[in-house]
Amino acid sequence: MRRINIDNAEPGIVLGKTIYGSNYEILLRRGVVLTKTHINQLKNRGFIRIYIDDEETADIVLEDPISEKIRIMSTKDIFKTYKVTQSAITNIEADTTESIIKYINTPKIKKSFQESQAFKQLCNDINYFLDEIMNQDILSGLNSIKSFDNYTYEHSVDTAIIATVIAKRLHLGKEKLMQIAIGEFLHDIGKIFVDEKIINKPGKLTAEEFELVKQHTTYGYELLKDIQKIGTVSAHIPYQHHERQDGTGYPRGLKGTNRLDTMGVAYAEHEKMIMIAEIAALADVYDACSSDRPYRPGLSPDVVYEVIKGGAGSQFNKELVDCFLNVVPKYPVGFEVRIKNGMYKDFTGIVSSLNAHQLSKPKVKLLCDPKKKKIDPIEIDLSSQSTPIEMECVC
Ligand SMILES: [Fe+2]
Ligand SMILES: [Fe+2]
Repeated sequence: MRRINIDNAEPGIVLGKTIYGSNYEILLRRGVVLTKTHINQLKNRGFIRIYIDDEETADIVLEDPISEKIRIMSTKDIFKTYKVTQSAITNIEADTTESIIKYINTPKIKKSFQESQAFKQLCNDINYFLDEIMNQDILSGLNSIKSFDNYTYEHSVDTAIIATVIAKRLHLGKEKLMQIAIGEFLHDIGKIFVDEKIINKPGKLTAEEFELVKQHTTYGYELLKDIQKIGTVSAHIPYQHHERQDGTGYPRGLKGTNRLDTMGVAYAEHEKMIMIAEIAALADVYDACSSDRPYRPGLSPDVVYEVIKGGAGSQFNKELVDCFLNVVPKYPVGFEVRIKNGMYKDFTGIVSSLNAHQLSKPKVKLLCDPKKKKIDPIEIDLSSQSTPIEMECVC
């Protein structure tokens, strides 16, 4: 299997991953042979990349970190939790931050949230979700294809996957993993209290609009902070996921220590970020940068990798970034790459498998020469080259 740009899709290719519509109905099932009409329909719906199965990459296996079943179940329950809480919002009388906070703390809003079937179901999903995450040491199959209408919910599941796999790598216990999962599932729920037109605005926000969007952090915290099934610590994920190590984040301009504190997971409400929120901040940026949006394609994984690396110390906890770079591959399996030096300069191929000990040096199956002519596949192992091979993702 491999990932391709929809612009390179030709009729007759076989779909490698099922594509879902906005209500999680199946649009096109894995294995279907794509026609010109299918391809145009996908383009019109805004899909930029798809996964395909072909003979050349039949031996390349893309493992999802969680099953399709658990992914859909969690995404749907996040969606329903948002909707049921949103439907309780009638008219917020005044629109200052303070009045909205007051409104969020009314029994009507709290009840509609915590007594909803959707929220109860979502709390249940976490056990299934974590059972599957427990088998993951590295993140080989990220970059889910997001359907644009449901970006927020799918993004919430993907950030939960990234954050819990990192937490597992840090040997945090089950309780912490549960706190992270529920906090991540609902990290952007505060957005329901911000004007929808601003939240869904495709272009750049004005300074004023951005100030309003920033409040989603505080609103999320206010909604979750005293919900027994969530706990205050998890509520700090929505509150702090846009804070930065150097104090340039929002809403409170908290700082970080750039050190890991896996034992105590330091928690000092008014001074420093808590560690699970530092993980959430990283996961949030990683997923937001990699995801295709209607107004721009996502950045390729090698570029996002450098973004995160470059932000170590100022944006993100430095020690946490070190851990992250051992969990998230720079060149994920199934991605197309172009060789930048050596005897295979400008050859292109597909990442075929990862080396868990040297995540940036996978195996690559070269399929085309520099003139884009197909060749008999050549497999190269980047971890066993005398001169290091450099490459970049091209899809
Ligand atoms: Fe956010
Ligand atoms: Fe987010």
